[in-house]
Amino acid sequence: MRHPSTAAIRLADYRPADFAIDSVELDFSLHPTKTRVSARLALRRNPAGDSSAPLVLDGDELMLLGVKLDGRTLGPGEYEATPDRFTLTNVPDAPFTLEIDTELNPSGNTQLSGLYRSGSAYCTQCEAEGFRRITYFLDRPDVLSVYTTRIEAEKSDAPILLSNGNPVEHGDVAGSNRHYALWRDPFPKPSYLFALVGGDLGVVRDEFTTMSGRVVELAIYVEHGKESRAAYAMDALKRSMRWDEEKFGREYDLDVFNIVAVSDFNMGAMENKGLNIFNDKYVLASPDTATDGDYAGIEGVIAHEYFHNWTGNRITCRDWFQLCLKEGLTVFRDQEFSADMRSRAVERIGDVRGLRLAQFPEDAGPLAHPVRPDVYQEINNFYTSTVYEKGAEIIRMLRTLIGEDNFRRGMDLYFERFDGTAATIEDFLSCFAASSGRDLTHFALWYSQAGTPVVTTSGEYDSAAQTFALKLSQQTPPTPGQSDKKPVVIPLALALFGENGQKLDLVSEDAAPTELARGLIELDSAERVIRFREIPSRPVVSLLRGFSAPVRLEQAPASEDLERLLACDDDPFNRWQASQSLALRAIFGRLETGALDARGLSEALRLLLAKAEDDPALVAQALSLPSDIDLAREKGRDVDPDQLFEARMALRAEIGRSLGSELDAIHARFSAAGAFTPDAASAGRRALRNVTLDLLAAGDAEKGRSLATAQFETAGNMTDKLAALATLALLGGHAREEAFAKFYAQYAGDALVIDKWFSLQAMIPEAATTQRVLGLMTHREFSMSNPNRVRALIGAFANGNLTRFHALDGSGYDLLTAVVLEVDPKNPQVSARLLSALRSWRTMESRRRDLIEARLKHIVAQENLSADLRDIATRALG
Ligand code: TRP
Ligand code: ZN
Repeated sequence: MRHPSTAAIRLADYRPADFAIDSVELDFSLHPTKTRVSARLALRRNPAGDSSAPLVLDGDELMLLGVKLDGRTLGPGEYEATPDRFTLTNVPDAPFTLEIDTELNPSGNTQLSGLYRSGSAYCTQCEAEGFRRITYFLDRPDVLSVYTTRIEAEKSDAPILLSNGNPVEHGDVAGSNRHYALWRDPFPKPSYLFALVGGDLGVVRDEFTTMSGRVVELAIYVEHGKESRAAYAMDALKRSMRWDEEKFGREYDLDVFNIVAVSDFNMGAMENKGLNIFNDKYVLASPDTATDGDYAGIEGVIAHEYFHNWTGNRITCRDWFQLCLKEGLTVFRDQEFSADMRSRAVERIGDVRGLRLAQFPEDAGPLAHPVRPDVYQEINNFYTSTVYEKGAEIIRMLRTLIGEDNFRRGMDLYFERFDGTAATIEDFLSCFAASSGRDLTHFALWYSQAGTPVVTTSGEYDSAAQTFALKLSQQTPPTPGQSDKKPVVIPLALALFGENGQKLDLVSEDAAPTELARGLIELDSAERVIRFREIPSRPVVSLLRGFSAPVRLEQAPASEDLERLLACDDDPFNRWQASQSLALRAIFGRLETGALDARGLSEALRLLLAKAEDDPALVAQALSLPSDIDLAREKGRDVDPDQLFEARMALRAEIGRSLGSELDAIHARFSAAGAFTPDAASAGRRALRNVTLDLLAAGDAEKGRSLATAQFETAGNMTDKLAALATLALLGGHAREEAFAKFYAQYAGDALVIDKWFSLQAMIPEAATTQRVLGLMTHREFSMSNPNRVRALIGAFANGNLTRFHALDGSGYDLLTAVVLEVDPKNPQVSARLLSALRSWRTMESRRRDLIEARLKHIVAQENLSADLRDIATRALG
């Protein structure tokens, strides 16, 4: 609905609910446009609440049919009901039952929040505030109730009827074509974890025996005909269940675990108790439709939602300010799972790449907010990479600081103390303070202070004294509403390397023995100097190893030092970081002087390529040069995407030319042999081969075109096929258009594959792309009502094609503005998120800045904006 601008919600205003709802009995009668919901709530006053307060229930666009109090129908004068609120002033003193009947139109629900339809199926999305679109309720996460759900529908429309918990019974409704199913979830939960699905779906079944020997029935429901594409998700689910037992001692707690894949979904997936609902993008995969990246995404999201069963569901959030309590922790857990399933180093590099791509810009711009915000207008806009990814980094730092054993014991304590409750960040941290004996007060600042700290380092070597003085300082730039920043606790993993690449012992009186022993310096003040002794020659510093803290490092190592780290650092993350730093140095050097010096980088990469067999995936990461987005972020101000693009292409071409024969050899040697398997080792070989193709094409267009065309024609899997198409997309010409046409002909109607086709076209860095995107918006397989389609085409254009999106004639901005305003009345969550593509607008050079500002002002001047979009646009203008 069109929310009027509501008042800001503040963490400081938190009060316990005035009522408790111990049990909820729901009865759904599904119908495309007239679904009936009957909700029976067992209410009582909450001793912690205000004992004289009226009962005020949340609603959103609700149509009330009737209400009964303890079995008696209430007359119109006995309560007050609007579409978004139900108020009962005369509340009985004793516990009472309220029966509320509402009517919903799931087919007309385009926001994809509450009860809606995806294809012919019925499904729900209740996080964060969707349950109030189903019935009037205390729709807040600290109200925990036991739910029983009865669903009734036409047998032919919805042979499958699912809800949370365990199935109790099902059967026919006498004298009709209808049937019903009854579900009961014994675990008290907040309303945002409620879910229901009804539809005609295919199913894949399996089972899992838990560590205590209970058998859990697993099922993944998908569109008919797609069953074979759910096999990998099922495998990932079983691995997730085992991993949580082994690594965290967490066992699954219901008799069944169901997953449903739908094609219309606002986000990635949702952890509803016992009934996870997924964007089908994160379930469906087959070698010829999904890339290695898609497989990794499925594994990660399946794990993420499953892990929420303990971190989110058994222990939930007291209020939405605590969102990172479940999301940051669960992202940390899924990252660790993926690291264990795949390559830890490659996973870490990928996670940091993601953090820098999305979270760093957010933290440096007008939408910056603390990991635990203290105020919001619209909670949907706080499902951000700050809450999720920076939230995960905080957990990782905590583990680094207190050590693995204390961390695990702290987690055990958290589950022991807070199971069945709605908790806060303070509750969480108290468990680690107890397990480690460490005061975490200062550390907690990471949750309340926004902005990415900048750590500046310099080193001074004294050859006579054989000492090396490392000076460290930190400073966090101001963010909206927080001008003065305090120093935070930064764990800095450190090693010093000697002349021959040997690791030097850390000897110093300026650091604690544990810091030296662990190679972990804690920077918790504005400045710190550590003088290391017994250093025989000027050392090479490897700092922030493994990316031990979510900070920016301002360091000016000599290029030779970076080359040495790239060759000899035993921390794979910093080896990769050295490759990226060298590339950035070459590109920014070109921007300043017009000349490109890439010799050092080329030679370092040549050495890596010679040892490519050792770890192809890692070498592929080192060869993946910074993107335009990386460059724009590193530049930080007066960004001109055309200049960045030109310099980046020049470096790619140079690397491609100078390493031509090595790249050639790799591309030939790593060619696909045998059947496709999605495992990390095979994926790493494909990644290396495809990045070499990309560089080869940059160095020699003709050669690239013929190699890419051949690979496109013969590829036995989507990874290789799409990589070839991406290379052709950059090269242009007839070969490109022919490949796009063939690709479409082959995959027409396969929505998730056509999304890739949309995205690659939207990212072509050529002037004609804007028109091309406008044309594709009228394509029969495009739809403004499907979030995946909108993200694939418009999201890819705005976030992945910097030169065209930021075209100086404003055409890219006009396109985004028009789409955002068209989508907003249908789906505010999607429009608001799309507009976040402008979150870094103030870092652009002035002509583009002016163009964007005018568009943002135009949006804010519209009358009927959703609360979601208005919030983003207003904050973006700052
Ligand atoms: N809690 C979901 C997760 O695991 C996020 C989510 C899914 C969501 N759908 C949503 C959040 C809709 C807000 C609105 O990360
Ligand atoms: Zn989550």
